[in-house]
Order: sequence, then C-alpha cells, then structure tokens
Amino acid sequence: MRNFDEKDITDAVISRLANSPSPRAKHISASLIRHLHDFVREIEPSQSEWEQAIDFLTRTGQMCSSTRQEFILLSDALGVSTLVDAINHRLPSTATETTVMGPFYVEHAPEVPSGSRIAGPAEGPALLIEGSVRSVDGQPLGSATVDIWHADEAGFYDVQKDDVNLSGRARVRTDAHGMFWVIGAVPAAYPIPNDGPVGRMLEAQGRHPFRPAHVHFMVSAPGHETLVTHLFLADSDHLDSDVVFGVKDSLIEVLGTAAPGTTSYGATVETSTPVLRRDFVLGKALSGAAARRPHPQALY
Ligand SMILES: [Fe+2]
Repeated sequence: MRNFDEKDITDAVISRLANSPSPRAKHISASLIRHLHDFVREIEPSQSEWEQAIDFLTRTGQMCSSTRQEFILLSDALGVSTLVDAINHRLPSTATETTVMGPFYVEHAPEVPSGSRIAGPAEGPALLIEGSVRSVDGQPLGSATVDIWHADEAGFYDVQKDDVNLSGRARVRTDAHGMFWVIGAVPAAYPIPNDGPVGRMLEAQGRHPFRPAHVHFMVSAPGHETLVTHLFLADSDHLDSDVVFGVKDSLIEVLGTAAPGTTSYGATVETSTPVLRRDFVLGKALSGAAARRPHPQALY
C-alpha cells in the first residue's frame, strides 16, 4: 500500500489495526483515527499550525508534575471530564450527584479523626463541614471514607503553595451513625492555574478561567459506588460560567450558622461558625458495562 492521499489515508491507517489482540483497543483506535482525520480535513491546518499543535501538547505534558496535572485541566476546560462523568452516571438515581474530580486531588491524604481542624486561620475564616453518609436504602454507612479538599480564602490549594505541608485537605471516617465533621476554611472562587498552555488556550478562546467557590468530596464505602463530587457555595460568583462545567443545582448549598455548642451531627464549636452541611447518599456498586448503563436513546 503506497501513494496515500487525503481520501484514502484514513482507511489505510484503520486497516493496520486488523491484528489488534484487544477488540476494545481496536474500536477505540479506529474511532480515534476516523475522528482525528475528519477533524484535520475540516480545519485544514497549515504546516505551522500543525507544529503549534504538537508544541501545545508537548508543553501540556511538560507542565505536569506530582502537584500539577495540566492534562486534567485540559480535559476539564474542554468539557470532556464532565462528558465522561455524565456517560458513567446516566440513569436517574437517589444517590448524590457526581461532578468532576479536578486536578488537585492528592492520593493518600492524611487520615485524621473526625472533628479535626484541617485548615488554620491563615487559610481563612473557619468553616464547619459536617454531614452523614448513607446508602440509597437509607442505611447509615459507618466507617465510610470521606476525602475532603478545598481552596483557601485566596483561592489557592495547599499543593499550589507548598509541596510538603498539606492543609485544607484530609480524610476522615464516619462514625457508627454515618456522621463526620471537620473544621476547614471558607473557600473562595478561584481561577484554574492559567500560567500554562491551558491558560493560553482559554485566552485564545476568549474565556475566563474561574470556578465558583466549592469544597471537594470523595466518599467511599464497601459495596457502594465511590462518589466524587463538590458542594458549591450558593453566594459564589461564576456558578453559571464554571470554566470546567461542573455545577449542578443539587450540589449548591447555602451556608448555615452553627451556634456555640454541639450540633445534631455531634460537631462542637465555641463560637458561631459558618457551616456547610450535607447528607451524602451512595449508590450500590455496579461494575463494567452495568456501571455505564447505555443511554436510553442510544442507537449506535
Ligand atoms: Fe476545586
């Protein structure tokens, strides 16, 4: 096979997949080649533009480190993360809604006792974060793992400031009643890191880089689907123009005020404290194709 032109090159590349040992890899590769070639045929890049595209991807990779994930930012800012999340959570459920992971999750955050202070005064005004975890059948889930991470009052995550000392981030376990609480700080709306190639992309697209104020949660318990979500602060700017398309109405919370004393979740505060409260509901675990439940209208 030789002398390929813009009409027959696509079929030629796909034909090379004939001996792929993995049907899934073969399907993904063929679809990628088909869409990528159609994309190139549509935009008809100059040689210089193609070189810029290669440079963009190169710089995106070079920007990545143990605390900076430029490819997740790129996926988020192009709406791909939200699309993947939606595909994997198609059917209506009484479980708490999911949203994007974002680039600032840290694996193996320190586990601390419920009731711990996870952010100090330097991070901003104290925020009581309290809640519960239960199954869709109403059973409280004791010993569930709750990962919490949030930006500070200036809009920065710990890993953007300091590679060693984590703050505004921790993992707690629910008690026998499925309850947990920590003292964090009231987070601010923030721009996603925009000093790299994704920032240049947003400028070229005429877009702002801001996310509304939020707190991240990852909640997991044996036999249940892990929940990756946020709670958004109702009075925040940018709720309708989140740069990563993550806002859902059901995840917006108005901050309450916890009076001095002990709350119904067992949290104790000495002075009136803003409180972010949520009862999280986990769906039963599914796996493989069942977890991706086909779209009801999917005919392809
Ligand atoms: Fe965030």
